Amino acid sequence: MADQHATSTAQTWTHRWTFVLAAAGSAIGLGNLWKFPYMAGMNGGGAFVIAYLVCIALIGIPIMMAEAALGRHGRHSPINSMRELAREADAGRAWGLVGWVGALSGFIILSFYSVVAGWSLSYTVDMFAGSFQGMSAEQVGQSFDALTADPVRMTVWHAVFIVLTGFVIARGVHKGLESSVRVMMPGLFILLLLLLGYSVMESGKFMEGVRFMFSFHPEDLTTEALLSAMGHSFFTLSLGMGAIMAYGAYMPKKASIARTIGAVAALDTVIALVAGLAIFPLVFAQGMEPSGGPGLLFVSLTSVFASLPGGQFIGGLFFLLVALAALSSSISMVEPVVAWIIERFPVNRVSATVVYSLVVWLFGIGSVLSFNEWAGEEYQMFGMTFFELMDYLTANITLPLGGLLIAIFAGWIMKRSHIFKEMNLSTLHFNIWRALCRVIAPAAVVVIFVSNITG
Ligand code: PFF
Ligand code: NA
Repeated sequence: MADQHATSTAQTWTHRWTFVLAAAGSAIGLGNLWKFPYMAGMNGGGAFVIAYLVCIALIGIPIMMAEAALGRHGRHSPINSMRELAREADAGRAWGLVGWVGALSGFIILSFYSVVAGWSLSYTVDMFAGSFQGMSAEQVGQSFDALTADPVRMTVWHAVFIVLTGFVIARGVHKGLESSVRVMMPGLFILLLLLLGYSVMESGKFMEGVRFMFSFHPEDLTTEALLSAMGHSFFTLSLGMGAIMAYGAYMPKKASIARTIGAVAALDTVIALVAGLAIFPLVFAQGMEPSGGPGLLFVSLTSVFASLPGGQFIGGLFFLLVALAALSSSISMVEPVVAWIIERFPVNRVSATVVYSLVVWLFGIGSVLSFNEWAGEEYQMFGMTFFELMDYLTANITLPLGGLLIAIFAGWIMKRSHIFKEMNLSTLHFNIWRALCRVIAPAAVVVIFVSNITG
């Protein structure tokens, strides 16, 4: 996709696998490795995990299928696709709003995602340099705190990550993405399995980890935990903001949406569960609190790498793969917006990317400061730091809202014959999908929203 207009034309990706790789690259990222474990830890473990799995099945997958179908049918950047689709269905222009909500989500998510991805870059370098070798678990925890206490160091790594993202976007997404995802994904999976093996054999707390993750205590299922679980199912599948819609535009007409999306969602879920199963036993073995928050991944694993001979190389490689997984996700947050800017305004891809990256980076500094200068209560809103608020706003509000609108559009507004053709399912399977998309998913989102406001 060297030429800048390729995003808006109807070309389909040449390789059959490219859509799967791009969608998996988008879905699998910090959401699985960093966010899922600490969210589960903060929301009582099993109750959260089980609610999350139910949300993936009943809300996430049907909406993800809808989003891919809308993208393939619309074949433009999400904002323009939604306009086209609305015109085709004789619906109002207001549906273009879906694209806007998505662009807003993408902007906000990237601003803090990049800060956390910056942590993994920082850990990659320090790990390879051997800085952690021989540290005790406590010292590893202190060095994480030292990183988050240092706004300059964080801002620099945040800048490095944004530049990396902008670089891939400016060159055009196809070139780098496919081959890097092809290498990164299996590498990440193998390292996670090794870590899981270590947890099983060496932590002495494996069953405690399993019990924490899967034993369901209904009293832990507060409406807030439920909202977090639903929000996370959107976040982890990259739903409700146009990423899947943008990539869907390149999906070959013949490819089965149900099968492809099913595979991506399954992969995403497995990676999150394996990450959790590897991490929680270590958390217990090291006497950490599962509810310790955003440092969970970094501290629990680094302690292990620090204690193993050669751990600095395995650890360095691991955090490098985490950063790459974050990169293939961050690309998918930017691409829909940049594609739209190029379609809409007379600017080229490079200048659109440079300006957009700069604005995101500046906004992200708010999240950097949330861990130090602005950590105090006087800087909080609704009891949250800027970083927490941005995360809450997107995962729990704008992504589910975007997803809700997409479900309603695909289920109620778009002509049945059109969506039927896109889905290419047997009538029975199509009807099951449609019932989920028309009724179950929207109702669930609304009920969870409402109970949170009233509860
Ligand atoms: N799904 C990504 C993850 O789990 O890390 C995060 C993400 C990517 C969210 C793209 C939203 C998005 F559009
Ligand atoms: Na994910």
